[in-house]
Amino acid sequence: MSYFQGKTVWLTGASSGIGLAMAEQLASAGAHLILTSRRAEVLEQVRQQLAHPERHQILALDLNQPEHAAAQAQAALGDQVIDILINNAGVSQRSLILDTDLKVYRQLMEIDYFAVIALTKLVLPRMVERRAGHIVTVSSVAGKVGTKLRSGYNGAKFGVIGFMDSLRAEMTSHGLVVTSILPGFINTQVAHNSLTGDGSALGHADPDNAGGISAAECAKRSLAAIAKQKAEVVVGSGVSKLAPWLQRFAPGLVRRMVANR
Ligand SMILES: NC(=O)c1ccc[n+]([C@@H]2O[C@H](COP(=O)([O-])OP(=O)(O)OC[C@H]3O[C@@H](n4cnc5c(N)ncnc54)[C@H](OP(=O)(O)O)[C@@H]3O)[C@@H](O)[C@H]2O)c1
Repeated sequence: MSYFQGKTVWLTGASSGIGLAMAEQLASAGAHLILTSRRAEVLEQVRQQLAHPERHQILALDLNQPEHAAAQAQAALGDQVIDILINNAGVSQRSLILDTDLKVYRQLMEIDYFAVIALTKLVLPRMVERRAGHIVTVSSVAGKVGTKLRSGYNGAKFGVIGFMDSLRAEMTSHGLVVTSILPGFINTQVAHNSLTGDGSALGHADPDNAGGISAAECAKRSLAAIAKQKAEVVVGSGVSKLAPWLQRFAPGLVRRMVANR
């Protein structure tokens, strides 16, 4: 039987890219999904196209306001049991530090860092009470290696790996499982939706992501790692897959590579 069969999975970022591909594969694996992103109408279309649409619900939230989103989720979900929370929603960045407004750093931290903490804290007490639950966060290879144009994104994605490590240390004795997923370059809308220095979206693809593995392949490998209850997994190909390993064993080489890119 699949790890996900019959489990209730709350999945953020379910309207696009990696999250959409995860939703499709989780529904086929027998999960009952709570689908979150900002766009209710897109989530409803996603729900209807999934296997067993009647098993799934949508919960539209703006994770740029984590406290408000958590309060809305609490009101909507009540004491519904959540077996697995997948914090996948996120926004990237394409702007130099010299050109980036402070408000853009705050927005990246709200969505990519504080919202993860807010939703995790929402489901945690019930999981601890039941001594069962799995918290997953989609960080990034950018959470291990800092590069140009992603200073705020790097900060949030590094931070969220630290939060998840701490969560795992505190929750293992409570019977909970914590997994961090670190994708490399994946072919999604992430570059298109990335924030520029004034907070506007980049509005076009970039060759790194366009040349990456598909969202479906990323979802497949990520869900396999979740089912195996791995602590951390890097998902990608080529240099983006190797980067965390190189950072650990050849940090000087990585510093030169990212400075020259
Ligand atoms: N693609 C890559 O190369 C790559 C690499 C490493 C890590 N990642 C991470 O993978 C995750 C998924 O990204 P993706 O590549 O699938 O990008 P994507 O296609 O742009 O999807 C991003 C998802 O996040 C949701 N989202 C964005 N802002 C939100 C907000 N304020 N409130 C609620 N939901 C919000 C979007 O939904 P709505 O627009 O409907 O709100 C969408 O479902 C992100 O955490 C990203 O950082 C991606």
